[in-house]
Amino acid sequence: MDDAIAACVQRLAASGRRPRIAVLLGSGWGGFVDLVHDAIDLPYAELPAFPQLGVGGHAGRVRLGRIGRNEVIVLAGRRHAYETGEADGMKGAVRTLAACGVQVLVQTNAAGSLDPALPPGSLMTIADHLNLPQRSPLVGETGDARFVDMGDAYDSGLRAQAAALAGTDAPGEGVYAWVLGPQFETPAEIRMLRLLGARAVGMSTVPETILARHAGLRVLAYSLITNWAAGLSGERLSHAHTLAGAAAAADRAAALLAAVVGGLDP
Ligand code: HPA
Repeated sequence: MDDAIAACVQRLAASGRRPRIAVLLGSGWGGFVDLVHDAIDLPYAELPAFPQLGVGGHAGRVRLGRIGRNEVIVLAGRRHAYETGEADGMKGAVRTLAACGVQVLVQTNAAGSLDPALPPGSLMTIADHLNLPQRSPLVGETGDARFVDMGDAYDSGLRAQAAALAGTDAPGEGVYAWVLGPQFETPAEIRMLRLLGARAVGMSTVPETILARHAGLRVLAYSLITNWAAGLSGERLSHAHTLAGAAAAADRAAALLAAVVGGLDP
């Protein structure tokens, strides 16, 4: 194990918590941290394998605590591939989780919708993804384990459990298309993505899913739809617009996540 990961494992073990579920929060999902009980916070700055964020946003922190029947570790803050051009910004963090005994990674993000039946404010369970940039966080790895099977990347057993826990609030499923960004898509790109079967489009999540599968974690993931994708409405896209779309649905998203994460049997 690399030294930075070993240091993180030691630091997290010192908390006395033994979470088996990790939750990685994307834009609009931050309210979830307030639903975690008996919380202990650690800044990413104290976790050397985690990305050191800082500039212009949240510095990043983990929250260890309990929700429903489960101990959880919540990661607030991710390094996006559009910041550096590299897809492995969360490699140390995901490998730390695995080394600590975490078995399930629940991911969340904000995304644009390509489907008239999925308006802004709604949620989607990610059933599969399109890795459009064809970037991998595993480039440079050696050994047979790098040839990761992605056939059930978004674990069908977890999706079934989550749907049962959410009941009538269970979000519909769809394919998430990962784009590198940071620019938004053109209308022609969105028409192409619709032909490819994507229901939602965003700039995150896929690298972490690949890292998690490589590390042996099962993945469950949700998109919070913040806007119509390019060309599907008269509105201009901007970061502020997507954040406003996220804020409007944030409470419902956090409540769904709490019901699912609190009840999962990892
Ligand atoms: N495109 C890409 N990423 C996004 C979008 C979008 O429309 N909305 C939120 N994240």
